[in-house]
Amino acid sequence: MTNSNAVCVEQLKDHAGREVILKGWLYRGRSSGKVLFLIIRDGTGLCQCIVEKGKVSDELFEQLKRLGQESSLTVTGTVRAEERSVGGYELAVTDAQIVSQADGYPITPKAHGIDFLLRHRHLHFRSQQQWSIGKIRHTVIDAIRRFFNDDGYTLIDTPILTAIAGEEQQSLFEVDYFGSPLHLTQTGQLHVESAAMSFGKVYCFGPTFRAEKSKTRRHLTEFWMVEPEVAFIDLDGLLELGENLVSFIAAQVLKNNKSQLETLGADIAVLEKIKPPFYRLTYTEVADILTSERTRDFLAGQLEELKNQKQQIESRIAELEEQQKGQIKQWKRDKNAAELIELRSELAEVDTKIENNPKHAQLAAEFRWGKDLGGSDETIISQMHDKPVFVTHYPKQAKAFYMKADRDNEDVVLNLDLLAPAGFGEIIGGSMREDDHDRLVARINEQGLDAEDYKWYLDLRKYGSVPHGGFGLGVERTVAWITSQKHIRQCIPFPRMMDKVYI
Ligand code: 4AD
Ligand code: MG
Repeated sequence: MTNSNAVCVEQLKDHAGREVILKGWLYRGRSSGKVLFLIIRDGTGLCQCIVEKGKVSDELFEQLKRLGQESSLTVTGTVRAEERSVGGYELAVTDAQIVSQADGYPITPKAHGIDFLLRHRHLHFRSQQQWSIGKIRHTVIDAIRRFFNDDGYTLIDTPILTAIAGEEQQSLFEVDYFGSPLHLTQTGQLHVESAAMSFGKVYCFGPTFRAEKSKTRRHLTEFWMVEPEVAFIDLDGLLELGENLVSFIAAQVLKNNKSQLETLGADIAVLEKIKPPFYRLTYTEVADILTSERTRDFLAGQLEELKNQKQQIESRIAELEEQQKGQIKQWKRDKNAAELIELRSELAEVDTKIENNPKHAQLAAEFRWGKDLGGSDETIISQMHDKPVFVTHYPKQAKAFYMKADRDNEDVVLNLDLLAPAGFGEIIGGSMREDDHDRLVARINEQGLDAEDYKWYLDLRKYGSVPHGGFGLGVERTVAWITSQKHIRQCIPFPRMMDKVYI
């Protein structure tokens, strides 16, 4: 066997009628007496390979029939179009070679709990779910780089070991740096600001770290963030930049990853709507919405809907449990068992939402101007909109020291947060930066920071200070939103969370 006609699954469409070799892993296999249906995955897609008894040696037929899930192999066969097959093409097998036999692969087609899957992330990578998310994450990162590179931005790599804090002091990871304390960076912003004064338009893109003591579905302790920073921009310019970036990312994913979006059950119609302009609300408008009757009614309607969902799930569970008690085929029993696991976890989720709804309604009703928006407040606002929502002009006391005070209303800052739609919450945070030296010193002191530590940062306000600003977009939150994942831990290859680091 030569390798000259080796192709990958993604290329099968160009080889209909021809003999090719596929190299991959056995994703799933089943037999119906004289025919084997082997689904092979090769990193570019899935292909059903048909092995008919008599078309290969009896010995090979028996070997393939017993082949364990995730064994590696090469198969030779003729490509034929088959609408009903995954990917639209299948292979009529004439020969095969087993590269390495796998027995007892721990992740079976039955459903597993999330804890088990996280402990097996090194293998779970091979699932259609993680593979699809990985492909989309790749597109998102590629789109981000392309967007900035094609628009005259210069990439600046900012340090990971840093001496000063960019965000909340309490979320710093300390590192013993030859006997002195340093910490892992929370943001590249402060450093990239200095680069903006040299290059004009810049961005940094790297891992960032937050020792956040929150075990929510939106928080990782290590995540990737892209941070553009622009000299001579204003808040309107930043809003435009943010909506253009997010729209470009959504369009690239729609262009390159439709089939992966479908595999993940993502809402394609919602993504198709992601085009400028996005909604723009001030913090004060959001505070008014949260305490309005409209929000009260919206949440009451949501509670009714959740109760209906709960009833539907419960009756389906009862139906399946009844079937399991009777005499049914083994494959049907396994299928039911897998569905039951999913339904029970869905039920637990709906129960939590039903329990939280009145709490969130109360938090919203009692929202007072000056407080930071909580996770539930963000969720409510983003659920009430079909496109992303910018929230600007936050109270000064709720935000970081570097944000520029609005000269027309000193109580608020010129900031922007972007809330993704469908309840996903914040994916972008940014602002205009305080560019007046003395005001910045006052803010540093007010927040109990030591101005001495920020000397170099203050220099930027001494030597040719200009209005400037930028923002950070979190990669995992963006991917989770685009792929409709409930938890961002699915959206980074090896998640680091407060309570656990698995592998
Ligand atoms: O709003 P944040 O904290 O803003 C900054 O760090 C600014 N210094 C950025 C800038 O202006 N250059 O974080 C920005 C984004 C959030 O909107 C979110 O998408 C993501 O980073 N993010 C997290 N993602 C996952 N886990 C966490 N713990 C995150 N914290 C922030
Ligand atoms: Mg933020």
